[in-house]
Amino acid sequence: ASTLGAAAAEKGRYFGTAVAANHLGEAAYASTLNTEFNSVTPENEMKWDALEPSRNSFSYGSADQIVNHAQSRGMKVRGHTLVWHSQLPGWVGGLGASDLRTAMNNHITQVMTHYKGKIHSWDVVNEAFQDGSSGARRSSPFQDKLGNGFIEEAFRTARTVDPAAKLCYNDYNTDGVNAKSNAVYNLVKDFKARGVPIDCVGFQSHFNSASPVPGDYRANLQRFADLGVDVQITELDIEGSGSAQAASYTNVVNACLGVSRCTGITVWGVTDKYSWRASGTPLLFDGNYNKKAAYTAVLTAL
Ligand code: XIL
Repeated sequence: ASTLGAAAAEKGRYFGTAVAANHLGEAAYASTLNTEFNSVTPENEMKWDALEPSRNSFSYGSADQIVNHAQSRGMKVRGHTLVWHSQLPGWVGGLGASDLRTAMNNHITQVMTHYKGKIHSWDVVNEAFQDGSSGARRSSPFQDKLGNGFIEEAFRTARTVDPAAKLCYNDYNTDGVNAKSNAVYNLVKDFKARGVPIDCVGFQSHFNSASPVPGDYRANLQRFADLGVDVQITELDIEGSGSAQAASYTNVVNACLGVSRCTGITVWGVTDKYSWRASGTPLLFDGNYNKKAAYTAVLTAL
């Protein structure tokens, strides 16, 4: 196959990208997106601050624009993200526990109802664990006021609203075997043992020289798959350039293809021009939408 999406489809997988609604009007951006990718994740448009900037007042315009663009071209959509400590409007942090629980469940219910049937996987909870060796939960309004049970509650609510959507837990620095990924592993294992609904785990996979593709990446994906969940590479970018960057991308694709339950790869942007990583050139297309060595490596590996 001659495009990322078609090559991934031949392997029974999708190949997606993060998309920003405000770039869809740029011809080269849209044509690269439409030609190469068969799944999209709104980069910011489905975060809480974008969708519910004030309590129970929802604004779906930019997110709908992306969903409509994708649906009319047969692309899948990943929903990102329902419950996260970041890009959270100030009013949420000001609520007491009882109101916060109501607001969390209402946010999940309203948003998932609006997009019901249109989202193949939802990142229900994003980044709930700390970095480092503790394996502890990260402080957030949800964690601090609702306690450890907030993740379970969010997943249970999500399942009742859209039973057809795959429900994912998503995080970073969990790509290899380490204390943080062990903590997520134990959460998933516990959920499976107790029948708490969870279908997938997302591995963000933001890599650079300080945090390269782990040597045990495939093994880590496999141990999660062995718990009975799908795994997805959800926000892939790799700082660097040339053949070294290309080789790292090859490793990532091979890791996913080596795990039968790795259902797809999403890169975190179409072009280096709009990457969120301030320094560097971490994506597959350069600032002029030329295919990089990393692009050729991915297409070859797929
Ligand atoms: C980033 C976006 O790319 C930026 O545009 C925004 O300013 C901040 O968020 N983990 C996630 C993503 O789950 O939502 C983040 O996206 C990158 C890190």
